[in-house]
Amino acid sequence: MQNSIRLLVSVLSVFTLLSACSSTEKASYSQNVKPILDKHCAECHLDGGAGLIKSGFNIGSYQGLMTGTKFGPVITAGDSLSSTLVVLVEGRADPSLRMPHGDREQLSKQEIKTIRDWIDQGAMNN
Ligand code: HEC
Repeated sequence: MQNSIRLLVSVLSVFTLLSACSSTEKASYSQNVKPILDKHCAECHLDGGAGLIKSGFNIGSYQGLMTGTKFGPVITAGDSLSSTLVVLVEGRADPSLRMPHGDREQLSKQEIKTIRDWIDQGAMNN
């Protein structure tokens, strides 16, 4: 009896996991994430850009993206909610640190979701 209850509980939790996953789309760094960063962040976070000079954050490569700023990583693989990059593009930090900086166009909900899905799926170089 004990065992069948335990089995039922584990079957149920597998279903819960599966349904939680189905709401996220498979996201790739090169296909989905890089184009968003190129569009919204390249102006300031590539060689010579104000954001790169000030923070050290270089979006030119996967390596640069994962290295983060001079203070450390801004992406926590598997945890988009607490990843600094997501906090900044969602405007959850101080308004002066919202990214993209200044009066630039903000990321769309879909673009933010793509980045979050990719981070939650392990932030791989895929
Ligand atoms: C118009 C220029 C500009 C654009 C566009 C821009 N940034 Fe920045 N970014 C900056 C500047 C300037 C800083 C340094 C801010 C400071 O230290 O006061 C910075 C800092 C950062 C930091 C480090 C923040 C910290 O806590 O030290 C991150 C991460 C960042 N930007 C991510 C992004 C991302 C992601 C995008 C694109 C979605 C983006 N930025 C677009 C100018 C820009």
